[in-house]
Amino acid sequence: MKVIEGGLNQEVLDIIEPFSNWFFNQNRSLIKIKGDRDEGEYYTSNEYLESINREKHVGFPEVSHGIDLSDTEVTPLSFRDDINKTTADLNTFFGTKFNAVKMYYPAGGYMGWHNNHNVPGYNILLSYTQNGDGWFRYQDPLSKEIVTLYDTPGWTAKVGYYGSKEEDDKVYWHCARAYEERLTFGFVVPDEDMWEMMCEDLYSQ
Ligand SMILES: [Fe+2]
Repeated sequence: MKVIEGGLNQEVLDIIEPFSNWFFNQNRSLIKIKGDRDEGEYYTSNEYLESINREKHVGFPEVSHGIDLSDTEVTPLSFRDDINKTTADLNTFFGTKFNAVKMYYPAGGYMGWHNNHNVPGYNILLSYTQNGDGWFRYQDPLSKEIVTLYDTPGWTAKVGYYGSKEEDDKVYWHCARAYEERLTFGFVVPDEDMWEMMCEDLYSQ
């Protein structure tokens, strides 16, 4: 997983910055947050990672404190038009039709260690924190080193590959943490060429 350095393309910023500005002006107490807010340190720790039964792990995170903004049961009706419009604008920008995962974490939010082996593919993550007080953490599939990629204030982009269960050297364990409110748009792209074109689009020009 690598961070796209040097700022994002203005055209994509013109989509996601108005979205975060709008979002943080809404009443977020209307969002029905799921999960236990006090367990974030544990579920993003080496101790928890070591305790997971890797044979039985399904790929999705087993624990989290945050929600997918596409989930109509937890996201207020009044939010939907703006969320759907941003998704549509991102698809137009990328020239794709992917249904991006749209995560919202409250302060204290997290997504526990998991590997997404059930939906393998190339990925693009766009994350926002106002002050940079959050991170994405992964285990290098080969060296087993654990690396934490800290947010910086505003929007940041990361790109990488999540392997399937059959790709031993590419199974990609990762987790995330939000000490302040955090947004993430996540795309999984099956086709490498298409993903490379999307990555190109993200660089500032
Ligand atoms: Fe994930």
